[in-house]
Amino acid sequence: MDIKSDKSFNGLSGIIEIPSDKSISHRSVMFSALAKGESVISNFSKGADCHSTLKIMQSLGAEVDFINEKTVKIKSSGILKCPNKHLDCGNSGTTMRLISGVLAGQNFDSILVGDESLQKRPMKRIITPLELMGAKIEHSNFKAPLKISGTNLQSINYESVLSSAQVKSCVLLAGLNAQGTTTFSEPFKSRNHTELLLKYLGADIDVVGNSVSVKKSQLIAKDINVAGDISSAAFFMVAAAIVPNSEVIIKNVGLNQTRTGILDIMIKMGANIEILDKQNICGEDVGDIKVSYSDLKGVEISGDIIPRLIDELPVIAVLATQAKGITIVKDAQDLRNKESDRISCLVTELRKIGVVITETEDGFVIEGRQRIKGGALTECYHDHRLAMSLYVAGLVADEAIIVKEFQWVDISFPEFLGLMENIKN
Ligand code: S3P
Repeated sequence: MDIKSDKSFNGLSGIIEIPSDKSISHRSVMFSALAKGESVISNFSKGADCHSTLKIMQSLGAEVDFINEKTVKIKSSGILKCPNKHLDCGNSGTTMRLISGVLAGQNFDSILVGDESLQKRPMKRIITPLELMGAKIEHSNFKAPLKISGTNLQSINYESVLSSAQVKSCVLLAGLNAQGTTTFSEPFKSRNHTELLLKYLGADIDVVGNSVSVKKSQLIAKDINVAGDISSAAFFMVAAAIVPNSEVIIKNVGLNQTRTGILDIMIKMGANIEILDKQNICGEDVGDIKVSYSDLKGVEISGDIIPRLIDELPVIAVLATQAKGITIVKDAQDLRNKESDRISCLVTELRKIGVVITETEDGFVIEGRQRIKGGALTECYHDHRLAMSLYVAGLVADEAIIVKEFQWVDISFPEFLGLMENIKN
């Protein structure tokens, strides 16, 4: 499905409800299936990635019942059963990396498969710590498919060179089933939804700075209400800040501090942003974000903020094109290992629509106050976040742009186009 994006409207305005957080949705169904009892998960993501996780937990024995399309009931004995087929993670790196930690300590074998893109993504980052815990994993040059032979695991004290919530979660989930105390430390703090949700479900877990420790624990089921996804809200935050005559209120957005790097950066760039009605739900901060058209300036984005906005960098690049002065993104080399190489693919596609951008090994440099020429066919490389970032660029381009294969947005945000059309004046 090819989609056109252009500036044939007069500003964006309205109040929108942003759909469910992808990271928390994955964890809500995965941990509920590991927990003993019954839980109702409200505001579960409609995205394909989270449905891959849900189907896998079902194949592992959890009883899954949809009350409506966003509310799901999970019932489990707390003990997983041997699956009778390959476990298909689809496009989802989060599913494959987290579930590997769960499966490594089971008393059965399993095979994890994924789509073409997932088969190219690096799995050494989880295989190395899991093998140190005693896991038995067959792989092809550290890529999927992964054959995991369940075994008894030993705890470890793992100092990761990567700041990665997926690696951290994998190790902690393996630690839930290992003898002793498992500790994971990382250079900068990555998103902490695993720690928060495991604690909420009764795990013996302790956080000190950038280190998290977990002891063997049985989780107890509890209802979970999933916040809106700040990574999805980001497209609307950027669109409202760069399209003249815009003012948008985004309701019910997760404001966990390990995810709000985009808010900090937009405020630093001079964006008109207000946070309204902040609350805490199931251990997570949530609130409404109001953004209006802004006079922006370029900034440097590097160091410990990178894990706090890693998924938002493609759309931040679009934001930077409209700011005064230069924006430099550094220390983001892991962007090359996402659903696409998000440095090289982003640079290629933004150049097609006339953006002047320099690619660096670990980021990019953008000269601000650019007119985006548009008038080109762009590719999203099967990457949902690239597709939506290019669409946002089209909203300020001189001539319409086309984003090819736009259906890839369904991975995280099937509601994107509908919400965008609703707020165009
Ligand atoms: C995620 C963690 C991040 C992020 C991904 C989701 C998660 O990846 O990019 O979209 O839910 O744990 P890394 O942990 O590899 O940085």
